[in-house]
Amino acid sequence: MAQAPVNVTVTGAAGQIGYALLFRVASGQLLGPDTPVKLRLLEIPQAVKAAEGTAMELDDCAFPLLKGIDITDDANKAFDGTNIALLVGARPRGKGMERGDLLQANGGIFKPQGEAINAGAADDIRVLVVGNPANTNALIAQQHAPDVPADRFTAMTRLDHNRAIAQVAAKLQVPVTDIKKITIWGNHSATQYPDLFHAEVDGKIAAEQVDGEWLRETFIPTVAKRGAAIIEARGASSAASAASAAVDHVYTWVNGTPEGDWTSAAVVSDGSYGVPEGLISSFPVTSRGGRYEIVQGLEIDEFSRARIDASVAELAEERDTVRQLGLI
Ligand code: NAD
Ligand code: LMR
Repeated sequence: MAQAPVNVTVTGAAGQIGYALLFRVASGQLLGPDTPVKLRLLEIPQAVKAAEGTAMELDDCAFPLLKGIDITDDANKAFDGTNIALLVGARPRGKGMERGDLLQANGGIFKPQGEAINAGAADDIRVLVVGNPANTNALIAQQHAPDVPADRFTAMTRLDHNRAIAQVAAKLQVPVTDIKKITIWGNHSATQYPDLFHAEVDGKIAAEQVDGEWLRETFIPTVAKRGAAIIEARGASSAASAASAAVDHVYTWVNGTPEGDWTSAAVVSDGSYGVPEGLISSFPVTSRGGRYEIVQGLEIDEFSRARIDASVAELAEERDTVRQLGLI
């Protein structure tokens, strides 16, 4: 019997990331070559027409796995019965906007979306938040979906993870496939901590194969500030690489991590590694049986501890801000 299509909702579908993402989802790269998909595109009313244009292009690709496209500006319709929700649409920081303003503006987006997911999504719903500030937006949505298991809400640090792999591969002149067990800890922001002390290159600890100064002064800031460097160079924030990381995040979630490796994702903390319970923070994770689980038992030295703590402190501050704003 043919497999029933999986419903995939993409918010911000008419945006830059949406344009790079939708064609990959429809071609089967999100869930694999045997899984048909139905797309639900959620946009604000002014952008629905542009989303319709993208849908026309999707039709024109004649993707065998694409079984339908619905476009709406109504979150309840967009998430009704959905299995996978990619929350990309968010308000970018504008001139003169403070972090609190951005959190408030996005609270207005992620609170109703969390409620709509709670009200109507399928029992196996998995949510990936890409829109910034991704970790705290995911927290807002999760807090408004009390009937959905908290571990179904994640935020994206896979792009940072992929960036870290690329930097190490270039430095050591090795293929990206030689690099395993990279970890991004904390927030998807400039405070994130890309960790090479547990990473392996061809089976050997990565931090021992690069000099300490490069690790501290070049590698960490390059990865942590890569988003800003792309904006500076491109005049717009990363889009195709963000879409690619979103595809990687969901593909791994559904299909599992390879033996001998892990990935990075922002998941609801269970208190592991001293990260306060409930914060959505990036950890080393494996995926087994369709669930992301935090890798346990890693030794954290003083250098790493200080950096993880700094990024987690920023997440706690963001949580406190959205609490004060009444968003959670
Ligand atoms: P964009 O401005 O091109 O597109 C955003 C789209 O979201 C727009 O079409 C807008 O109409 C839509 N939108 C706004 N409010 C909405 C709502 N309530 N419901 C549905 N759609 C809504 O931006 P982009 O380049 O596609 O980036 C999207 C977000 O992803 C930004 O917040 C960006 O900072 C973030 N981002 C995150 C990562 C990451 O690694 N986590 C990487 C790159 C970009
Ligand atoms: C990125 O990491 O590329 C995005 O989060 C965009 C940004 O604002 O840095």
